Amino acid sequence: MRKFSLYNFLSLLVLTSCQNQEPDLMIEDFESVSFANWTVEGDAFGETPAQGSLSGEQLVTGFQGSYLANSFHNGDDSRGILTSKPFRIERDFINFLIGGGMSEDTYIELLVGEQRVAKSHSPVESETLQLVSWDVKAYRGQEASLRIVDNQRGSWGHILIDAIEQSNQYKSNIMENYTLTYDISQKYLLLPIEDSAPETKVQLMVEGKEVGVAMDIRLAKTHIEYWLPLSVDAYRGKKISLVFGQAMKGDMGISQIKPSDTFDLNYDEPYRPYYHFTPEYGWMNDPNGMVYHNGEYHLFYQYNPYGARWGNMHWGHAVSEDMMHWKHLPIALAPDPLGAIFSGSAVVDKDNTAGFGKGAIVAFYTSAGEQQTQSIAYSLDNGRTFTKYEHNPVIANPNIADFRDPKVFWYAPQRKWIMSLATSQTITFYASKNLKEWERLSEFGQNIGAHTGVWECPDLFPLSYEGKTKWVLFVSINPGGPNGGNATQYFIGDFDGTTFTPEALPYPLWIDYGRDNYAGVTWNNIPESDGRRLFLGWMNNWDYGNSVPTKNFRSAMTLPRELRLQHNGSHPVVASFPVKEVGDEQDNQPIIMNKLAENPLPIGADFYNNGYVVSFTVKLNALKAFEFALQNSKGEKIVYYFDTEEKNFVVDRRKSGLTDFSNNFADPLIVAPLIPKKSYTIHLWVDKASVEAFVNGGEVVQTNTVFPTEPYNQLWFDLRGNTVVSVENITLYKIKNQ
Ligand code: FRU
Repeated sequence: MRKFSLYNFLSLLVLTSCQNQEPDLMIEDFESVSFANWTVEGDAFGETPAQGSLSGEQLVTGFQGSYLANSFHNGDDSRGILTSKPFRIERDFINFLIGGGMSEDTYIELLVGEQRVAKSHSPVESETLQLVSWDVKAYRGQEASLRIVDNQRGSWGHILIDAIEQSNQYKSNIMENYTLTYDISQKYLLLPIEDSAPETKVQLMVEGKEVGVAMDIRLAKTHIEYWLPLSVDAYRGKKISLVFGQAMKGDMGISQIKPSDTFDLNYDEPYRPYYHFTPEYGWMNDPNGMVYHNGEYHLFYQYNPYGARWGNMHWGHAVSEDMMHWKHLPIALAPDPLGAIFSGSAVVDKDNTAGFGKGAIVAFYTSAGEQQTQSIAYSLDNGRTFTKYEHNPVIANPNIADFRDPKVFWYAPQRKWIMSLATSQTITFYASKNLKEWERLSEFGQNIGAHTGVWECPDLFPLSYEGKTKWVLFVSINPGGPNGGNATQYFIGDFDGTTFTPEALPYPLWIDYGRDNYAGVTWNNIPESDGRRLFLGWMNNWDYGNSVPTKNFRSAMTLPRELRLQHNGSHPVVASFPVKEVGDEQDNQPIIMNKLAENPLPIGADFYNNGYVVSFTVKLNALKAFEFALQNSKGEKIVYYFDTEEKNFVVDRRKSGLTDFSNNFADPLIVAPLIPKKSYTIHLWVDKASVEAFVNGGEVVQTNTVFPTEPYNQLWFDLRGNTVVSVENITLYKIKNQ
């Protein structure tokens, strides 16, 4: 081997210092107020460089001198391209200032010959330009050109570029594909999160190989709001790396990542419910894969383990023997190259129709990649681990953007599986003999029901009514619920194995008129000896779900409920009421008053520190309207108005506690229809951050979240001065087994 001589060393030194002495070369600063060095296409960049902001644009800052390229001419919708004259790459780096939108369609790229060798969009959505650098050493001496492209309409559909230079210095604070490597000897890497920070792509590598797909993580920039654990237990003794798509030098979210053997779950959060299901940490939305098997109720759910906001959809998993006490299990399904794991269902394949094994739990989910397709996975160990089917997806996308949320059940009369699938604003039914090959049967939903939003999360199931079987179809819709945002509508009718035919009823009908019960579906495989149809929904609303004032986790599920067909005095409805497992008046020595004696009724700490139920019957006699409220000493309250003339039951949560985390949480008033009756029996299930109100056994329901700053500890009635009215059987009881 040749020795590294002093001569070599000196010549390297000379070379380096010469290179450093090479002055920066300005490619374009737009100060000539002309695009003479560029070919201009489209109208977005105008005819000459812009002097800062353009008409209708927020203040543009962070550019150099007085002019820059700005594609906001004619607003965000305009499109255009600037292509530079060819130039020679004579330095190691190209530095430039960039701002505007973060879309993949607003970008600057470097072409060497025909080939793109670098591409960047603005690192943040902002009218303040940031300095970005490309390493172009590999192309020194070659001829290149630049293209500045705005091919994006709508919000943030513009790009800002200035001060493009060649330099031997990498000047940006932004590091592309920045890598940190760890020798793993502990269970977790704790990630510092800031909820409002932009998402950074983070790829896990184990011993130099990519594991899974990159996750979008809101790593802290200005302060750490909470920590989330990345479990690395499986890699003990190995080297793992985290590769950050884009990182800022000095980001605390990156520099403060720390190994740990423990992760403290914060169950003392002020709005962590006492008796509703929540994820241990991270974000949760729809219930998925609900199936009963070998004595366990399985609850899978849409889950982001990397932040308390929606993203990186996995299936989280928990099991319970009574739907009240849940055991958290490891994540069941993680995103893969086909996409994120969106909502779906699970069945028990008793006859091994799919060939995965007798009694396999087979899960159906939407692979949400560039297109939405349907995939399957199976478990032979009671849902503890899943194997994805090697020939996924099992249903390709027929060119429908919203094509998702498969709910599958066994249709015994024709010995076949039926899948209900949300297809834009209809539900399409498919059939299969083996769970792998699916045949399209029919489509339901045009010109019936609510259509102001996308149809999601269908569920078709039978319920008995007056000795006959009727079929019920649940369809969640977002937006377009009766009170804004999302809600779940249903249809009652018949199903013959191919087609669902609805009865004539005053659609849309809603399973819950409150703002916070969405994407709910029913459990599969409940034993015939039990015979119940059991339901549970996501207790939140897309209108504000990502900003509710919880911290380490976001969202709870509703109470599990039993569904029944019931006549409401006008027509049949699907009534829902908490399952018997959650307890009733018999438990825990209720406080019972026969008549309304005190006003307001105090609720002791024993109750509000556990979660409680209060129920009563109001006999109206001559009264047309009455109201009551749950309230605390700070004057925070959730108010309920019943009006038999207006025929509605209204919930007002404008003063319910914290409301300003979103501008559409408190308003509007939340209205449900009310059939005039002589008496109403009302049950309120109260937890730290929710009240579920059931009227007459659940023929009208309102589920609403609330964030009081101290617990509601009084029930207050306003009977409009009418003493003839009676409020009877006022019962206050604790939740079972608390
Ligand atoms: C409903 C929904 C589903 C989808 C999932 C994604 O809330 O939009 O349609 O599968 O959430 O998390």
